[in-house]
Order: sequence, then structure tokens, then C-alpha cells
Amino acid sequence: MKELSGKVAFITGAASGIGLALSKASGAAGMKIMMADIDEAGLDRAVAELLAEDVDACAVYCDVSSEESMRVAADATLAAFGKVHLLVNNAGVLAKGGIGDLSLERWQWALDVNVMGVVRGVEIFLPLLQGHDEGSHILNTASVAGCVGLASMAAYCTTKHALVGYSEALYYQLLEEGIGVSVLCPGFVATDIAQTARYGADEFDSDLQAAVSAGMSPAVVAQHAVDQLRKGAFFIFTHPGTRGEVLERFDSLAGAFDATDASEVIQGDPDSQRVADRETTENLHS
Ligand SMILES: NC(=O)c1ccc[n+]([C@@H]2O[C@H](COP(=O)([O-])OP(=O)(O)OC[C@H]3O[C@@H](n4cnc5c(N)ncnc54)[C@H](O)[C@@H]3O)[C@@H](O)[C@H]2O)c1
Repeated sequence: MKELSGKVAFITGAASGIGLALSKASGAAGMKIMMADIDEAGLDRAVAELLAEDVDACAVYCDVSSEESMRVAADATLAAFGKVHLLVNNAGVLAKGGIGDLSLERWQWALDVNVMGVVRGVEIFLPLLQGHDEGSHILNTASVAGCVGLASMAAYCTTKHALVGYSEALYYQLLEEGIGVSVLCPGFVATDIAQTARYGADEFDSDLQAAVSAGMSPAVVAQHAVDQLRKGAFFIFTHPGTRGEVLERFDSLAGAFDATDASEVIQGDPDSQRVADRETTENLHS
């Protein structure tokens, strides 16, 4: 979706941080914005900021962990603007703690917002994106934690890895329809996420708080994301410093395949040669 001007964006988690910055960057590109969040006071402040910048913006209460709430928000968006062109599944929460440390209730909360919140968003909004031929796009905010494993962030990594995989499947499914999909994978960004985070045994983590506070400006992250989605990029990385860790993981994947190539057990098995592995996975793309 190269041309954003005059089009409509629905953005979750828009009251704060990256969602607010994405609302501003899309608004500056001429989009009309429906800002959605559970924080109603924050939404009031956020929408006032956009209106002050002459952006055509509205706000709606929307809890992404509730299907009913998302349907109401979709209806409100159609009532306000008539169409939706850009769905931004950005709302997300941080459950921090290692395995055995975080309560199952907190695991569930993270999965319900970070994964199922996006699934709900796509199920409800995709028909609206498909309902016109003016170009549509879906942007999902994951994290660089969706591309690497971090010991103290098991629940968060689980949700963000799921979101990267989900987004990739969605990208291939919508390719022929011409609906673009991007996944945003930032490192630390200076937002409120550490304040609203839920923790394991340690009820607060001052190191995490400090790392988030020292993070990149949400405005920079959002501007790069909007520039990249216009170009149709799938992966959107914002933190050059995280490249090494991500590529290290891919080196370890490549190393595991080197081990299969070197394996006498696998190479000596006629059945493993008979299966056209590459063809089999390629068929699943359609
Ligand atoms: N801040 C970072 O360092 C960082 C890094 C990588 C990825 N992210 C991701 O960026 C996204 C935005 O987070 P942020 O850093 O701007 O945090 P933030 O806390 O500033 O903003 C998140 C917003 O989501 C809203 N929200 C929470 N639960 C919701 C729900 N159930 N329904 C609707 N809205 C809900 C909050 O009210 C808040 O306004 C998240 O998906 C997060 O995982 C953040």
C-alpha cells in the first residue's frame, strides 16, 4: 500500500508508546485514524494530540482480549470512516519471568493479548480489508524477542515468536490477494510497557525499567515502520544492534542443517532421500 493519504487505519494499543507514535506517523502521512485501547483516559489524551496536529482521528474503547469488544470497535470504525485499509495489531503486554517463575494466569494473560488479540483482530477486520479494492495492509507489532530466545522472558518470547510465525503464514496466505503484511520487531523502545508489565517472583525489575527507559524513541520506530510498510517489507527491524543476536540464531539453524548433511544415519537412509522435503513445504504456502 504505497499511497496512505485519505485511507483509514485502525490501531490497537494506540493510547501510549509505539501505538500512539504509529497513529501520529500514519496521521502525518494523511491517514484517518481510529485509535483503540483499554486505557480510556489515555485514549482521550492521545486523540487530543492527533487532533491538535490536524489529523482526522477518533478513539474507541477496545480490549483485544475480547471478541465482543473488537467487533464493537470494528463497527465504530465503519460508522466513523466507512472503510478500513490498514489494520495495526499493536497492543501488547509484557509478562517477565523465567520458566517456573511466572504464574500460569500471567502466561495466559500474555498469550491472550499478544497472540489471540492479533488473531481476533485479523478474523474480524480481514473481511473489511477485503471489502474494497483500494489497497490494504496489516502491520503486527512483534518484537526482536520474536526472533531470539531470552531466558528471563519465556512468556514474552513465546508470544512474540508465535506472532512472527503467524504473520509469516498470513503474509503467504494474502500474497495473491495483494494485501500486504508486515511484522515489526523492535528492541527496547522508551514506552510505558515496563510499568504495566506483570512479573514473576520479583514484583518489579529495575534493570528492565532502565533498559526500556533508555530505549529508542517511539517516534523513530513508528516512522521507520510506516516507511517500510509503504515499501511492502515483511520484516521490519528498527534496532541495528540486535542484528548480531538474530543472525547468531540463524547460524545455529544453518549449523543444525550442516549436521544433517554430515550425518551418516540420515544420508545413508534411502527414505530420507525419497521425500522431496522442499517441495512438501512449498505446497503448504498456498
Ligand atoms: N517498548 C518496548 O521496548 C517494545 C519492544 C518490542 C516490542 N514492543 C511491543 O510494542 C507494542 C506496544 O507496546 P509499547 O511498548 O508501546 O507499550 P505501552 O505500554 O506504552 O503501550 C501498550 C498499549 O497497549 C494497551 N493495551 C494493553 N492491553 C490491551 C488490551 N487487552 N486491549 C487493548 N489495548 C491494550 C495499553 O493500554 C497501552 O496503551 C507491544 O506489542 C509490545 O510488545 C515493545
